[in-house]
Amino acid sequence: MPTAHKGLEGIVAAQTRLSFIDGEKGVLEYVGIDIDALARLSTFEETTYLLWNGRLPTRDELGVFTADLRSRYALPAGVHQRIASLPRGAQPMHVLRTLVSSLALDDPSPNSNDAASARQKSMDVLARMPALIAAFDRSRRGLAAVAPRADLSFAANFLTMLNGAEPTPTMARAFDACMILHADHGLNNSTFAARVVISTLSDVYSALTAALGSLRGPLHGGANEDVMRMLGEIPSVEAAEGYVRQKLEGKAKIAGFGHRVYKAYDPRATYLKTLAKQLATDTGNMGLYEKSQAIEGVMLREKAAKGIYPNVDFYSATTYHCIGLALDLFTPMFAMSRIAGWAGHVIEQLADNRLYRPDAEYTGPHAVAYRPIAER
Ligand code: ACO
Repeated sequence: MPTAHKGLEGIVAAQTRLSFIDGEKGVLEYVGIDIDALARLSTFEETTYLLWNGRLPTRDELGVFTADLRSRYALPAGVHQRIASLPRGAQPMHVLRTLVSSLALDDPSPNSNDAASARQKSMDVLARMPALIAAFDRSRRGLAAVAPRADLSFAANFLTMLNGAEPTPTMARAFDACMILHADHGLNNSTFAARVVISTLSDVYSALTAALGSLRGPLHGGANEDVMRMLGEIPSVEAAEGYVRQKLEGKAKIAGFGHRVYKAYDPRATYLKTLAKQLATDTGNMGLYEKSQAIEGVMLREKAAKGIYPNVDFYSATTYHCIGLALDLFTPMFAMSRIAGWAGHVIEQLADNRLYRPDAEYTGPHAVAYRPIAER
């Protein structure tokens, strides 16, 4: 009889060439390149090329890739009407999942899964994520959508479409680094969801939609919003220690801490902590950063021995707040970046596919007699 591995912990379910994690040492590499180097030196476009092609592009290759991406920034006809018809109070992750799913309706051949088609569809969805999120956010604020700017990077174009004004170079660069840091992360839950769906030879839209559904959960990408809510609940830096201790005494988990794979400091959190501090200083949000530091201090004293450290969601909350993003757009930011990783995994899975179909350990009864409903 098979034995269940709850949560598939420790089970190797796929091979990948996209990213490598050493959870004990706190290492993350995309195609062998350290995440810190990529966050400092690369761009989101170049990093996406790396994930989808297994190597860094030449200058010409990057130019072609970037131009292709930018040529797809605009939404297909009719999508703006679809967005306008959505309830203004809808949660952005539900909206995004619905809209990404609906992009299949605008594709004349949504099911084609050959390598070239999978790349084209991935490029389309990635390019349109900024417009989808920005147009919905503006629509719910009663504002007209802003046309995409093909002269701007992915990060700068998004912030421009969201705010109706170009970001400063510092903000655009900070946001670009966030996009790089969130782009891929091994066989995390949402990536696994995408691979499971595409392994039936379904379609790219269905795989990405499933991944979005997974990401929004509070144990996964939804944690960045919970971190911000927690920071809002804590009235002062001095109150942080008492707040955390009370939660821990009640056996509650602290959002933004702990990870299935990392038992050391998440290297993305290391970068984001520095970024959060810089942006908090620049934008007058040091109180938020100091509260975060105070929470981290208690958690390290109480939980580091158990391998519980800040994860990617902890300092991304302060970072996104300082960039000026609404709280409920935090998880969509994660999604916008992670589309690069999900699509890369979908392409990888299609190139060497085997249907995911694990076993279950049956724990119910056997040989039970059927009792007619009148006798129950
Ligand atoms: N705060 C306090 N204690 C924690 C935390 C936390 N954030 N995370 C784990 N623990 C404790 C658990 O209570 C448990 O303690 P016990 O052994 O005394 O019962 C032990 O650490 C193991 O925790 P599990 O939840 O079993 O570990 P798992 O590998 O399933 O959890 C997870 C990983 C889900 C991320 C967990 O750490 C958590 O819920 N964190 C908070 C939510 C969060 O930040 N999620 C984002 C993760 S990063 C990402 O997905 C992008």
